Amino acid sequence: MSNRLNLAVVGCGYWGPNLARNFDSLPTCRLGAICDSSRERLGKALVRHPAARPLASFDELLSDGDLEAVAIATPVRTHYELARRALERGLHVFIEKPMTSSTAEAEELVALADKKGLVLMVGHVFVYSPAVRKIKKLMADGELGKVFYISSQRLNLGIHQQDINVAWDLAPHDISIILYLLDQLPEHVNCSGQAHLASGIEDVTVMTLKFADGPFASIQSSWLDPNKVRRTTIVGSRKMIVYDDIEPLEKIRIYDKRVEAPRQYDSFGSFPFAYHYGDMLAPHIEQDEPLRVECQRFVDCVRNGERSESGGREGLAVVRVLEAANESLRDGGHAIRLQAG
Ligand SMILES: NC(=O)c1ccc[n+]([C@@H]2O[C@H](COP(=O)([O-])OP(=O)(O)OC[C@H]3O[C@@H](n4cnc5c(N)ncnc54)[C@H](O)[C@@H]3O)[C@@H](O)[C@H]2O)c1
Repeated sequence: MSNRLNLAVVGCGYWGPNLARNFDSLPTCRLGAICDSSRERLGKALVRHPAARPLASFDELLSDGDLEAVAIATPVRTHYELARRALERGLHVFIEKPMTSSTAEAEELVALADKKGLVLMVGHVFVYSPAVRKIKKLMADGELGKVFYISSQRLNLGIHQQDINVAWDLAPHDISIILYLLDQLPEHVNCSGQAHLASGIEDVTVMTLKFADGPFASIQSSWLDPNKVRRTTIVGSRKMIVYDDIEPLEKIRIYDKRVEAPRQYDSFGSFPFAYHYGDMLAPHIEQDEPLRVECQRFVDCVRNGERSESGGREGLAVVRVLEAANESLRDGGHAIRLQAG
């Protein structure tokens, strides 16, 4: 019998086909089924994956006794219900970001996966990007010194979502990158934003995360920007990094630049800051497709019992930050203290 993981992808809209393509390309996986409640989308997906069994409903998927795992790429409001039913049926679950619509739902899924001994992994794809991995290594090696702040921008024109605001749509990527790099949860979250086109659904948001031991992070998300921007700047006491995911090759630039403040000074006039302007280096970065690495990681977790970098707990942490951001948005941008948990 083949040891390939028999997996179904649910949701063949914008993103699901990318998951189907990547899981299908892995020698360790078999795309056994594809499921979508839209016949038209299911038909299109079937053209690309003729060997997969087409399933027009999630009930049909749950009654397929051969499946071992499911990858969920449906709208966020459906994630909890589909994942809960899959876990209860004994399937390992990969679920797209953001994991759920609320902290309570995410907590329930984490507890259920633990109870059943099943893998629950979330699609925080950038955590599997060689560029983000490289930044994490540079930080661990002390290249940047003390991290002062991180600033992230994810902007473009569209695609407007009907059930979530732009923070829930785009910021999960930035939040997951920042939590992965800093390896801690923020203490406070603030968020401001505005809905220009659809009432109550902010299309522009600015979020700030304040961490206990110093660093500060800001995340700007927009569906209303003329340019596509995916940029994260990390400013340290020794060096600074600009990570531009749009760049095809030089995604990371390390700047040997810093400002050193004097230990002591007599008056403001004698404020002798030292400005250091060194070289810029763009290190070689592997060309692995992050989504493929992520899909392989899910299969490895199921087969070898490994813990992924974007498990249920990491998914829950991102939802916790998003929920606090929503609370802050409704409360005039005030700081919301994150509940430990
Ligand atoms: N990782 C990334 O970079 C990335 C990028 C885009 C979207 N996403 C995530 O992927 C998920 C899907 O987003 P999208 O833009 O592809 O949505 P979409 O609306 O384009 O597609 C969703 C599909 O799910 C189907 N569907 C809905 N409910 C269903 C159900 N109960 N059973 C079966 N099929 C059902 C719909 O018919 C539709 O075809 C979201 O969580 C989104 O945040 C991730």
